[in-house]
Amino acid sequence: MKLAFAHVMCTIDVMNNSDFPRTERSGTGELSHGRPPQTEFTTGLDYPRLGSVTFRRGTLTDNQEALFDEHWPRLGRLLDDAPVNIDEWFGRTGHPTIVEIGSGTGTSTAAMAPLEAETNIVAVELYKPGLAKLLGAVVRNDIDNVRMIRGDGVEVLARMFEPESLDGVRIFFPDPWPKARHHKRRIIQSGTLNLIATRLKPSGVLHVATDHADYAEWIDELVDVEPMLEFKGWPWPEAPLLTDRQVITKFEGKGLDKDHVIREYLWAKN
Ligand SMILES: C[S@@+](CC[C@H](N)C(=O)[O-])C[C@H]1O[C@@H](n2cnc3c(N)ncnc32)[C@H](O)[C@@H]1O
Repeated sequence: MKLAFAHVMCTIDVMNNSDFPRTERSGTGELSHGRPPQTEFTTGLDYPRLGSVTFRRGTLTDNQEALFDEHWPRLGRLLDDAPVNIDEWFGRTGHPTIVEIGSGTGTSTAAMAPLEAETNIVAVELYKPGLAKLLGAVVRNDIDNVRMIRGDGVEVLARMFEPESLDGVRIFFPDPWPKARHHKRRIIQSGTLNLIATRLKPSGVLHVATDHADYAEWIDELVDVEPMLEFKGWPWPEAPLLTDRQVITKFEGKGLDKDHVIREYLWAKN
């Protein structure tokens, strides 16, 4: 199947729908068993190859399970081939939308969302207990501008968001995959940057943070690789979205040491 968005900037071949195993348990946020489908990109750029991260599981407490069963059908969905109708999902029209990839337990997500109440936030994560924690925070604190998608962020962007539909993409502390043989699993790659650029509206912003020195060097090499993204560095006071993550990491709290310098990166879509 070829996704035919009118102003698509790169051609994306997507596996046939029949390759996309639908789970009967999607209402409970369970991913299908087996290897998930991976888009065959035809850009010639580099994309992360999924490792065991895809199969991350974990158990929820009884309380989390009950919250999940009650609220996931409204607030969450699984990766699939149906593009997200943002206005319908958030129940309002014309608001900016930011996708956060790899939201983890959602500490930053839940802390930032109330400060950007006019913005729709979509948290994408593979790890169900992390999503359950964010879901709990969202419900407890009456946060109504956060929705969640369980799945691989690259596939979610490719399959579920139309070109030039996003005002921002955030990737905070992506898995560093420190061993050289695992570097190909790193999410920041030329192809991911290109995919993100296609999904951003003009002037949309990509914000990446890492505390891993070797990953920072890796990103430094890639800051200018995508022609549609203008590297803005850090800080960028005129950034049109919230760039303060609101969270003091354990390293920041203790004072920075040379192994845990936080590096932040901002790009704007041309
Ligand atoms: C090191 S944690 C950081 C979590 C959070 N952003 C934070 O700052 O605390 C990286 C997270 O990204 C998630 N992750 C890794 N690869 C992903 C992918 N391809 N799509 C979505 N989430 C992913 C992992 O499950 C993990 O929760």
